[in-house]
Amino acid sequence: MVRNVAGLLPELEPEDFYLLSGVEQGMRFSEWVQREKLPKFSGLTEEEVDYRLERCLKRGLVEKKTIQYEGYTLQFEGYDVLALRALVERDTISGFGSPLGVGKESDVYEVKSYKPLALKYHREGYTNFREVNRERDYTSENRHVSWMYTARKAAEREYETLEALYPDVSVPRPIDQNRHAIVMEKMPGVELSRAKLEDEQVVGVLELLLGEIARAREAGYVHADMSEYNVFVAEEGVTIFDWPQAVPTDHANAAEFLRRDVRNLLGYFRRKYPRAVPDDLDADAVAASIEAGTFESVEAHAD
Ligand SMILES: Nc1ncnc2c1ncn2[C@@H]1O[C@H](COP(=O)(O)OP(=O)(O)OP(=O)(O)O)[C@@H](O)[C@H]1O
Ligand SMILES: [Mg+2]
Repeated sequence: MVRNVAGLLPELEPEDFYLLSGVEQGMRFSEWVQREKLPKFSGLTEEEVDYRLERCLKRGLVEKKTIQYEGYTLQFEGYDVLALRALVERDTISGFGSPLGVGKESDVYEVKSYKPLALKYHREGYTNFREVNRERDYTSENRHVSWMYTARKAAEREYETLEALYPDVSVPRPIDQNRHAIVMEKMPGVELSRAKLEDEQVVGVLELLLGEIARAREAGYVHADMSEYNVFVAEEGVTIFDWPQAVPTDHANAAEFLRRDVRNLLGYFRRKYPRAVPDDLDADAVAASIEAGTFESVEAHAD
């Protein structure tokens, strides 16, 4: 798990950030950035570089190796602190709150602004990053460092999709993005997996969700990771989130992903609320009507 770096922000000085972004720049060329190159990348003097490296090492923001040459690389914590500082500098966020969700592929925290927001750090390359770091010796052949690139690309993709879908589809409103982090509105409600719907609410909620899936498709996207864990339900309605893997509708597998999304959702409703879901509701027929742009209601498919 990646530590929460928000508490470090007040004690870090501008020169610490020059050093960190110097290491980040060097990492465009190789995983381990040579000590000698850091004055150039960071714009700091030799002495200043040593002093700042010491401070950043102590705080677990960078890592050092001395095989072949003395080199430095960013820890995920160092990358987090760079993204967080950028978001604070441009007034996107003004304070940090508690965790909203901690997973294998992301860490999500509440953050403060004019209203409560959610900050999602993407961690897509994380597992890979730990293994690779231990076992492999990087050379300058690497055009980019894969964990950093993977996490940043995922954040960019998710942010672009949210921007394309909001407000036509009920997704969290996108606010800002930097590096591997995105800021969005905090959703009301609870995960569908933890919600306890009354039998008479079930078809209504299912229908709302299928309606959102249909609108997303009309707007050009298929979610492709639909499950009870990526949906929030609240008094105000439903929200579909977690979009980094979404595919455009002209993607070769879009129809297949759409079918799988609908099957997943319907399968979940059927298992959890067997009495409330009509027996003859067929997932593939629903998916086909969404695909054809003719989906209207659950009822129309249930007889
Ligand atoms: N905008 C938001 N508002 C409130 N809570 C959120 C928000 N975004 C995410 N969360 C919380 O954080 C959790 C994880 O978010 P998300 O599903 O986007 O990432 P993930 O599950 O780690 O990604 P993946 O499904 O790829 O593993 C969610 O289950 C939810 O509880
Ligand atoms: Mg998720």
